[in-house]
Amino acid sequence: MHTLGTSALRVLMSVNILVSASTFSSSVKGKERSLTLPAEANTSLSVPVDTKAVLLCPPDNSTALLVTWTISLRDQPPCTRAYRRDSNETSERNCTDERISWESRPDQNPALQIDPVAITHDGYYRCEVAAPDGLFGHTYCLCVLVPPKVTLFRDSSGTVVCRAAAGKPSAQIFWTPRGDCHAEEEPLGNGTVTVQSTCHWEGRQVSNVSCSVSHVTGNKSLFLELKTGDQLSLNLTILYITSSILVALVIVGFIWLWRIGCCRKC
Ligand SMILES: *[C@@H]1O[C@H](CO)[C@@H](O)[C@H](O)[C@H]1NC(C)=O
Ligand SMILES: *[C@@H]1O[C@H](CO)[C@@H](O)[C@H](O)[C@H]1NC(C)=O
Ligand SMILES: *[C@@H]1O[C@H](CO)[C@@H](O)[C@H](O)[C@H]1NC(C)=O
Ligand SMILES: *[C@@H]1O[C@H](CO)[C@@H](O)[C@H](O)[C@H]1NC(C)=O
Ligand SMILES: *[C@@H]1O[C@H](CO)[C@@H](O)[C@H](O)[C@H]1NC(C)=O
Ligand SMILES: *[C@@H]1O[C@H](CO)[C@@H](O)[C@H](O)[C@H]1NC(C)=O
Repeated sequence: MHTLGTSALRVLMSVNILVSASTFSSSVKGKERSLTLPAEANTSLSVPVDTKAVLLCPPDNSTALLVTWTISLRDQPPCTRAYRRDSNETSERNCTDERISWESRPDQNPALQIDPVAITHDGYYRCEVAAPDGLFGHTYCLCVLVPPKVTLFRDSSGTVVCRAAAGKPSAQIFWTPRGDCHAEEEPLGNGTVTVQSTCHWEGRQVSNVSCSVSHVTGNKSLFLELKTGDQLSLNLTILYITSSILVALVIVGFIWLWRIGCCRKC
């Protein structure tokens, strides 16, 4: 312990409150509660849902005497995971989510892993390290991204609807060609948003429309041919009229022939 720098020792002692079965916790308890960290860097991370995320804890080398991850998620008490090199022990407090764990062996790499990332993992992840040459702290702000489900269809009234369902953050919808459009956003409560845009192209010869959905997880374009339905019914109408005329002509023809035959007899 004499080899520790004073600042490193202070952190060791203050975090000691969290680490059970420690040899000197009784002398320190209540004295050191706040950490003063000289080096601080914050990173914003955007991670797609259902993937695996690894948060590195700099300094990423094995000189750390004590590593502490503090995970602050919305509506949950902060969870703390710590690793002490002197006793080669890990400990945790208030950590109930099994998807968040050490990436591998904390004695080799103090990285944290989230696998798979869920929408509830939005929040702050702070890593604190006490090493012989100083203290290091790094805070990640994690933002989970959810790609929206995109559909383009005609509803029962014939209005064209483009929907980007349950995306996070909310998606943006663009139409080609531009029409008379109306967009609505519906938050779903779990942080995702459904965006829906309905369009009319009144009095214009529009046969093909495309809806482009712009989202951080990737853009998507869908096409819809508007005329197919009308064209089909028009063709059917023409067929119907033509066959009706033919039948009428045949009947008239028969009547005419019959009358000629009848007159000859007379
Ligand atoms: C460990 O990382 C810290 C911070 O990056 C650095 O100052 C220190 O020299 C590194 N130690 C070794 C043994 O690589
Ligand atoms: C654990 O959660 C409880 C509330 O559920 C809180 O009072 C306590 O301070 C938390 N412990 C730590 C170490 O964060
Ligand atoms: C620390 O403990 C783990 C098992 O808990 C063991 O595999 C590893 O070799 C130990 N590391 C050291 C440096 O003693
Ligand atoms: C969010 O909530 C909506 C509606 O309940 C659901 O359809 C969607 O799958 C949820 N998204 C995630 C990522 O949990
Ligand atoms: C409508 O768009 C699709 C997809 O780009 C294309 O294959 C089709 O030929 C277009 N139809 C018309 C009538 O422009
Ligand atoms: C998606 O579209 C937006 C604008 O429409 C553009 O700025 C962005 O670069 C596009 N992203 C991708 C991944 O293609």
